[in-house]
Formats: sequence, C-alpha cells, structure tokens
Amino acid sequence: MTKTIGVVNLKGGAGKTTATMLLATQLTLFGHTVTVLDMDSQGSASNWARIADEDGTPLPFEVMAANHVTLRSYKGKTDFTIIDTPPTDPGVVDAVVRIADAVVVPAPPGDMDADRTWDTVNVAAPLVPTYVLLARFDRRSNDARDFTKQLDEKGVARFETVIPASLPLGRIRGTIPKPHLWGYDAATTELLEVL
Ligand SMILES: Nc1ncnc2c1ncn2[C@@H]1O[C@H](COP(=O)(O)OP(=O)(O)OP(=O)(O)O)[C@@H](O)[C@H]1O
Ligand SMILES: [Mg+2]
Repeated sequence: MTKTIGVVNLKGGAGKTTATMLLATQLTLFGHTVTVLDMDSQGSASNWARIADEDGTPLPFEVMAANHVTLRSYKGKTDFTIIDTPPTDPGVVDAVVRIADAVVVPAPPGDMDADRTWDTVNVAAPLVPTYVLLARFDRRSNDARDFTKQLDEKGVARFETVIPASLPLGRIRGTIPKPHLWGYDAATTELLEVL
C-alpha cells in the first residue's frame, strides 16, 4: 500500500511544487520508492521532470499527470505517492484531502498570503492530518513571527523545520534537487514520523 501525501495550498506560488519535488527526492534518498502525481494543469512538476530527462539527469522518481477521474482509480505501486496540486481549485484540494494519509500546506508568511492558507487548512485539517510547512521563511521578519504565533495559537499543526527564503532555491526547476541544502531532509524526517 502506498502512503499518499497531498501538497496543497489554494494560494498560488506558495511553494507546493518545490515542496513536492524536494520531499520526493529526499524520500528516494532515504531509500523509498516514490511517484509524484501532477494534478496541476500548468504541469509544473511534469515540466520539471521533462527538463531533467532532456538534460540527461532524470529524476529518481516518476511524475505522472493526474486528474479527478484518474485519481479515483489510482493504485500506487511505490512506497509513497506525493500529489502536487494547482492553486485556486477547491475541487482538487477536496479530492486530494479525501484520499491522502497526510497533507502538507507550504505557506509563505505574510498578511497577503495568510487568508488562502487558512482556507486551505480549514478544508483539510478536519479530514486528514494536516501540517503547515513554513516556506520562504525569513526569521527576522515580523510577518514570519506573527504568522508562526497565529498558527500556534490556533492549534494548527506545523513542521518544526522551516524552509528559508533562498534565491538559489528559486532556480532549481528541472534539476535533481539537493533537499538538505534547504532543510527538506529534516522536513521529510518529520513527515515520516507522523505517517
Ligand atoms: N524557499 C524559497 N525561497 C525562494 N524562492 C522559492 C522558495 N520556494 C519556492 N520558491 C520559488 O517561488 C516560486 C513559486 O514556487 P512553486 O512553484 O513551488 O509554488 P507553487 O505553490 O507550486 O505555485 P503554483 O501555485 O503556481 O503551482 C518558484 O519560482 C520557486 O522556485
Ligand atoms: Mg505548483
């Protein structure tokens, strides 16, 4: 039986595809087999894999396009299935949280970002263990401190590991990433502890 991890945030650009690909890579480094399902019609995860193939450095896991219909009949053959989802599509989030064993909500701190992150958590958390992953995090900023405090006050589960804001992390699309450079090794360990 595959363990299924949904990566969701209704907010666009929150870091979903980045989190999907780095968690997937780290799981393979830990010796697990992984499939990524790309439910985003923008095809960001699929394009990442295609570029890696074309460059002769294929990713250590398969990326497959998926939608509501194919998701229903999906039978994972790998240890883990990670689902990358589009922004602003509550239907996909709903479908994913119903079948996932855990949900990761990458969330950049900041007033503008917070509303859709809360909406996402409110949809997911009643149905499945849901963990906010603070991504693009600047420890010195007030937004970061305020957002962390709000999460903790509302009792929203979150990763202890935070992913720093990093320009190089914004440039790794199409490559085999090195998850430990941004704390995704520790984040993956945390995820494995709750699965
Ligand atoms: N920690 C980070 N620091 C700096 N840039 C980041 C970080 N994480 C992601 N990015 C960059 O931010 C942009 C958005 O990230 P990503 O594509 O992972 O978000 P997304 O939630 O999948 O977006 P979408 O909603 O469009 O699918 C990308 O250019 C990515 O490279
Ligand atoms: Mg994406």
